[in-house]
Amino acid sequence: MAGVRYIMISRAEYVDRFMLPDQDNRTKHLMRTNKDRGLLDFFDFSTKGVAFNCDYNYWRFNRQIFSRAMMTACNSNETIKLINNLFEEMINYWINLKAPDDSTIIEASTWMFKFSFDFLFGVLIGRPSFAMKSYYQRLKNIDVTKEIIEYEKYSNCVRNFQSDNLFVFMPNFLRNVPIIKDRIQNLVNDCDFMKKKSMERIRKRRKEIEKIVNSSNFNKNQLGNHLLTSMIIANTPYEIHSQINVDSSLSRPMTDDEILGVLFESFMPSDTISNTFCFVLYYISQDPNVKIKLLEEIKTVFKDDLTRPITLDDLNKLKYCEAIIKETSRIRPAVPLVSRYADHADEIAGYSWPSTTDTLFIMYVRGINNNPLYWKDPEKFIPERFYESQEIKNHHKFSFSMFGGGLRACVGKNISMLQMKLLLALLYRKVDVELLDLNAPLKIKNTTSTICENLDIRIIHKQPIN
Ligand code: HEM
Repeated sequence: MAGVRYIMISRAEYVDRFMLPDQDNRTKHLMRTNKDRGLLDFFDFSTKGVAFNCDYNYWRFNRQIFSRAMMTACNSNETIKLINNLFEEMINYWINLKAPDDSTIIEASTWMFKFSFDFLFGVLIGRPSFAMKSYYQRLKNIDVTKEIIEYEKYSNCVRNFQSDNLFVFMPNFLRNVPIIKDRIQNLVNDCDFMKKKSMERIRKRRKEIEKIVNSSNFNKNQLGNHLLTSMIIANTPYEIHSQINVDSSLSRPMTDDEILGVLFESFMPSDTISNTFCFVLYYISQDPNVKIKLLEEIKTVFKDDLTRPITLDDLNKLKYCEAIIKETSRIRPAVPLVSRYADHADEIAGYSWPSTTDTLFIMYVRGINNNPLYWKDPEKFIPERFYESQEIKNHHKFSFSMFGGGLRACVGKNISMLQMKLLLALLYRKVDVELLDLNAPLKIKNTTSTICENLDIRIIHKQPIN
């Protein structure tokens, strides 16, 4: 297509070859795509950030700082507190929206997106983004303040961008075709807005940090654990967990422009988390036995306490919750394709591929995850496959993939699992969830990810509410 050859791989055994390092510990195909593909350059993605960065040195530098910052956020009690607080906020909105029968009907894909956006924004920036609040106020016809409208634009841009992001990979010559041109211009406007606002925030936070570190009673814990701060102080004397044994090209601080590249793309996965979570709600609602087992796990962990905040310690006990999320992602992965650009001659799937062809190897995640070669009754939703089961232990490494693999595996996998596991336990501990139409198929749209377009559910509050 448009001068590029796409090789779709649907067998796990062939995937190692282009995703993992070889016997000499060299990873041959490290780029997700080639630099000239579609409009990557036009959108300024090919040398910025992590996900579509095609410059090895910049990618490596950005990735190691981003991964370190993510690890700090994942191990932080602040992150857990944020989820607990956001959940309380969401439940209170739902209570205010309840019908006379004490249940609330919601469109879950929008609520889950707003929740995930508020969560990621908090983890990334350390501030509220009011995504749920503005959505609630609009549903209730309450006047929305100017400040909140500005934040609302942020989350709307992310959702629009994710919904139309295929245009970024569209061949360059189609850029000026009417209709496509307008859609691309909308994406450009969204990007410009998000970048402008993010840069303002980066500069403001840098100044705040300078003020804090220059105060007479400064101690490192005053700075907090959110990603923006971690990236600003990375490789400076103020970093809390500094990195040892790295080569000198990796040990310099990041510029504002480099931070912007990483920050900008980090808002986008709020959509991927919310799509995955909607699929989770859908599959649980289809299977009463899974719901019973989920409730048993929640009862074992929390006894009958419906309100105590969930802790990092609880997280490790929620094994069935994790199995449900994995089984959902096996059947319906939110990222169904993972690509690697063939920048070296290689032999893959029994064929020789010369280095001169413009070739993308695509790991067809959905195909492999549902291939009867690896899974018995692949179309059946059976979380037990991932729960205290021998079955998964004997499997090929890539027979199930949710977050890709190798050196370019997802940086956000731990934070995403953390959010989804905690939200699942918080939700089913407090309310029951039913699909409004049990027979309706999932309403999805495919872009670079699989988007849940609409999921109407009924929330039944477990405690009598006023
Ligand atoms: C349920 C949620 C998520 C899913 C299913 C998901 C899935 C994926 C997949 C399949 C890849 C490609 C990996 C590969 O090519 O081997 C990826 C890459 C990536 N993800 Fe995620 N992701 C999620 C959430 C997140 C979050 C929350 C963040 C950060 C805030 C994030 C940041 C990234 C980055 C930066 C990359 C590119 C890594 C690189 O090129 O080095 N993801 N993700």
